[in-house]
Amino acid sequence: MRFAKPALVTLLILFIGVQFVPREAERDNPPSTEMISGPREVVDILRQACFDCHSNETHWPFYSYVAPMSWLVISDVAGARSRLNFSEWEGLRAGFQKRFTRKIVERVEAGEMPLWQYRAVHWGARISPEQLDALRAWRDNLNPPAE
Ligand code: HEC
Repeated sequence: MRFAKPALVTLLILFIGVQFVPREAERDNPPSTEMISGPREVVDILRQACFDCHSNETHWPFYSYVAPMSWLVISDVAGARSRLNFSEWEGLRAGFQKRFTRKIVERVEAGEMPLWQYRAVHWGARISPEQLDALRAWRDNLNPPAE
């Protein structure tokens, strides 16, 4: 017990200290210049389950303001936006859009998206079987078998 108190104090000081690491600029929502305008049902699903990471319309939760948790959130959003950003979807070439619809269905089918840590705190982000069917229909529509 002799070391417990200094250890706690050190942790507390560290915790307060890391709050001053400047990550403010990375927690921003730039304008959505080419927002996806697909079928209404599909856009609603993406908005509900994916937009917090894969768009510029992130709802930054309170823990995204508290280091070190905030670093994880910020890096997930940056990683997600850099690969696939629905706020820039309409600017993508048709071929990329097609390919992404396939990847989207694959990742959701595999249970990989939305990320589990996100699903754990956002119950509404779980994709229902009906919603998955809507995503599949969207994919099939953009990827006709004749090609
Ligand atoms: C909590 C943040 C988060 C949420 C919510 C989220 N994703 Fe992701 N997504 C990521 C990150 C981070 C990556 C990059 C790492 C990886 O590929 O696993 C990624 C990668 C992807 C990729 C791969 C892109 C590529 O270029 O290969 C697809 C497709 C994808 N996500 C689809 C979705 C869909 C669809 C949803 C909603 C149903 C969703 N994601 C929700 C964080 C998220």
